[in-house]
Amino acid sequence: MDSQAALASLFAPEGRRDPYPAYDVLRAHAPLFQAPDGSWFVTTHALTNRLLRDPSVRVADSADYDGFWPDWRQNRGVASIVLSMLQTNPPDHTRVRRTAAAVFTARRVAALRDVIAEQAADLIRAMPGRTDFVSAFAYPLPIAVICALLGVADSDRLWFRQRAADLTAVLEPISTEDEMRRADVAGRELENYFIGLIAERQKAPQDDLTSALAAGDSGLSGAELLANLVLLLVAGFETTTNLLGTGLRILLEHPAQADRLRADPELAPAFVEEILRYDSPVQLTNRFTSRPLDLGDGHRLPAGATLNILLGCANRDPARYADPHRFDPDRPNIQPVSFGGGAHYCLGAPLARLEAQIAFPLLLTMLPGLALAGEPRLRDRLVLRGFAEMPITTG
Ligand code: HEM
Repeated sequence: MDSQAALASLFAPEGRRDPYPAYDVLRAHAPLFQAPDGSWFVTTHALTNRLLRDPSVRVADSADYDGFWPDWRQNRGVASIVLSMLQTNPPDHTRVRRTAAAVFTARRVAALRDVIAEQAADLIRAMPGRTDFVSAFAYPLPIAVICALLGVADSDRLWFRQRAADLTAVLEPISTEDEMRRADVAGRELENYFIGLIAERQKAPQDDLTSALAAGDSGLSGAELLANLVLLLVAGFETTTNLLGTGLRILLEHPAQADRLRADPELAPAFVEEILRYDSPVQLTNRFTSRPLDLGDGHRLPAGATLNILLGCANRDPARYADPHRFDPDRPNIQPVSFGGGAHYCLGAPLARLEAQIAFPLLLTMLPGLALAGEPRLRDRLVLRGFAEMPITTG
């Protein structure tokens, strides 16, 4: 496979199923190269880290969207994401991110430990002997946790789950018109829901993230508040579902490693980092250069270059990880780029890690006979990689 074919394969369903051989070809071709459509691809761990941390490398923000998609505000799913911190540059990003980080604290995440463990144990106990792991566990756990964090009532969880799933289509460059229409509807419904919740919490604050962000002194505009509440819901939902599904599959494929984790749950942090590295739930992120960049070794980027940063490819870079295609939780210094890097580094990373660190040992100990009961089905997506369905028997 040459580099052209490797690149083309990422845009076809068969290639996406296992993108790692194509990534190897692209990385060997160059750390940075320009595709026929004019955009640039970044393939190595070092360059990914370097570019994500460069202040002159920006995300496409609402002003950029105005330039290439004048009607974007009409799709409320798109608007929620574009108006959120994810698609905002300094100085607004710095202000909004600081506000969100001040309320989404380590203390608040740590306080969720018992909620997560209880929810996970309840879901495991409720599993029938043969079931789909994604719908029985990997989907409901993150949504329950995010709803608890935001202060969304338990009775609204199912409703939320569908809207959040519909809205994630806007994070994909390959969504269909129908998916984009559903994302618009979900965006409108979620905005209305949060408008109601914000009003309630402004009258009677509770110990939740919505109350903290909606407090008068938060410094967020109404539109920023709304967009970032929607972002918190969707950013942490399918990504964490994918981590749980992918992680379980990897553990079941490596039974000796699974036995070690079952015997010693203290190994969970290293296992979760290696799962994140081995098969990243987010495979790709985009940036723009705001000025020409000289990156050394003859690599230069012009101003205005569109970057496709292949996070999943960087995580398997042999220059950073020896024998990168081997699942090895004992490898030293695992620092995957699965949560991004720099100013937009995932705000929910501690929460996602905690959910996974609790879930995997619990699954393995409560269900020692857990096994695959058929071939799992991958979601056909380029950015968010994970299973749509994973038949299991609980032993
Ligand atoms: C395994 C689970 C997760 C993965 C792999 C993941 C991945 C990422 C990545 C790669 C980014 C950066 C995107 C970029 O730089 O373009 C990001 C940003 C973000 N994530 Fe996560 N995420 C996960 C879970 C969560 C959770 C649980 C939450 C919150 C409840 C969350 C909230 C956010 C937010 C708010 C941002 C935007 C940060 C900013 O723009 O400053 N994520 N995430």
